[in-house]
Amino acid sequence: MQGAVAIVLAAGSGERLGQDRPKAFVELAGRPLLVHAAGAAFACSAVSMVVVAAPPGGEDLAHAIVEPFGAHAVVAGGATRQGSVRAALAVVPADAEAIVCHDAARPFATLELFARVLAALHGADGVVPAVPVPDTVKRVDGDVVLGTVARERLVLAQTPQAFLASVLREAHERAERDLAEVTDDAAALERAGFRVRTVPGEPGNFKITTAEDLARAEAIALELARG
Ligand code: CTP
Ligand code: MG
Repeated sequence: MQGAVAIVLAAGSGERLGQDRPKAFVELAGRPLLVHAAGAAFACSAVSMVVVAAPPGGEDLAHAIVEPFGAHAVVAGGATRQGSVRAALAVVPADAEAIVCHDAARPFATLELFARVLAALHGADGVVPAVPVPDTVKRVDGDVVLGTVARERLVLAQTPQAFLASVLREAHERAERDLAEVTDDAAALERAGFRVRTVPGEPGNFKITTAEDLARAEAIALELARG
């Protein structure tokens, strides 16, 4: 679908990563995570503009980071991811047909994945990249095992997630009105009854949460750079 705007969620503080700066500004292979995540969005030909939700106070730095790539806007993010999406939605041009939301904490999403979720929007309101759950999943109460969950019907959701723009706006407005907390954008659609589909995600598209994740990402980035 043409006329897509990408929202890059970069406003988190990165508390679990425990660095001296917000996670989106932490460097991987010598470049901030924001460059990696926004770079794939800008490289996708269907994306005409990128809106960055930046850490409050980090707007100028975020602007300087994405400026060389092309058309963009920067807003101060909110206290939660959901609040950051709402802040970004406020500056997405009204004529955008599709919106693709991506976490700056996922530096390895490819431009092909952006293209795949946008292409699958024909026939769905929202599209989520999903990967199988590799481990056996248990339900527990403290350290007591209550049972095993059939993992065939479980998937792990990634970003970028693509949405019809009007649907994403309505779903987030409803969540706000209902005081409902959602941890990804698809969840806002699900609770509002919209049609959300999956497409194959990418095993390498993991989210950087901890220092261990960053070390693993650094090793992978080195490998990729070597070709
Ligand atoms: N995010 C955001 N605004 C917030 C919180 C999170 O834009 N108020 C973004 C983060 O920048 C990240 C994505 O949402 O790209 C996923 O969040 P997470 O991995 O939890 O990042 P942080 O919130 O920064 O990390 P932590 O929870 O450890 O503080
Ligand atoms: Mg967080």
